[in-house]
Amino acid sequence: MTSPQIKTALEAAILAPSPHNTQPWRFEVAEDTVELFLDESRILAIADPDGREARMSCGAALFNLRMSLRSRGVPVRVELLPDRDRPALLARVRIGGHLAVASDELVLCQAIPRRRTNRGPFREERVPGSVQKTLRQAALRERGRLILLDQPARYSAVATLLRLAEFSQRQDTDFQDELVQWVAGDPARLDGVPPLASGPPPVTEPLVLLREYGSNSQKAPREYEQEPLLGVLVTHGDTSYDHLLAGQAMQRVLLAATVCEVSASFLSAAVELPSSRASLRSLLGDGAYPQVVLRFGYGYQAPGTRRRPVDEVSTCPQNQT
Ligand SMILES: Cc1cc2nc3c(=O)[nH]c(=O)nc-3n(C[C@H](O)[C@H](O)[C@H](O)COP(=O)(O)O)c2cc1C
Repeated sequence: MTSPQIKTALEAAILAPSPHNTQPWRFEVAEDTVELFLDESRILAIADPDGREARMSCGAALFNLRMSLRSRGVPVRVELLPDRDRPALLARVRIGGHLAVASDELVLCQAIPRRRTNRGPFREERVPGSVQKTLRQAALRERGRLILLDQPARYSAVATLLRLAEFSQRQDTDFQDELVQWVAGDPARLDGVPPLASGPPPVTEPLVLLREYGSNSQKAPREYEQEPLLGVLVTHGDTSYDHLLAGQAMQRVLLAATVCEVSASFLSAAVELPSSRASLRSLLGDGAYPQVVLRFGYGYQAPGTRRRPVDEVSTCPQNQT
């Protein structure tokens, strides 16, 4: 394994999404191994006290790392939670040798730098059934399941739940105090969410409310879509292992959406508040655990967010990266 390949893979890994752009990951690189650690100091104490979303974010980073290596023909063997005495060690990735590149891996890898959370309005244009099928298959490939809400009764029950959960977080001073810490007002800041990444103010309040990072009043108000396509990614269990699977499935779905020119944003209030999450779980009805709620549609160019550089989040005993 050459060091430029590992460096490129780490550069892809850190483009993963994370709540409030906290980037809760750390990598240790050895000759033919990359170890992925949870950076516990970057877990959101209020929004994510159990670190579930932080582990999902690391799962997403792991997926990007895998795709980057695979797109260069490098076989990847991943062991999740390889050491029960070190729960922060989330994955050990062994690399080396050669295996032909699959075309889908190449296409997903190319989508990594183009994927963005898009909090802006979407056009009133339905996501076709064929694309919906692609998104569901992407989740299944990573042992997750994406439930797209296509029955009107269930859609409106979930939309109401999302709305109430978002209102509840807007009124929760602890949540808001934490969020403010992650508003990246200074353009030089390498984590957090810049106010520009919020959508413009709505002309009419939409059914589904999006999280706001700082004031977006400098943007002209816009009309949002009436009923975005909503999807809930679920897993069988709710252990750390499941969260890592969920993160990989989430990232495969987001990249598959990017490939199809479909934009996505997150609606996490309903899975961050324990009582809302329990209600959502019972609404979905088959005992699976909701891990992330996504809004899909056809949007306009979304601004990017920054990342801490690879050198800052990785150590390399043999001075490889
Ligand atoms: C598990 C998870 C939950 C998230 N929840 C929300 C959310 O509820 N609202 C929101 O606007 N963004 C949410 N995000 C998106 C992050 O804010 C976003 O990934 C981060 O700012 C980096 O920006 P990017 O996705 O454009 O690269 C979430 C991301 C992850 C991984």
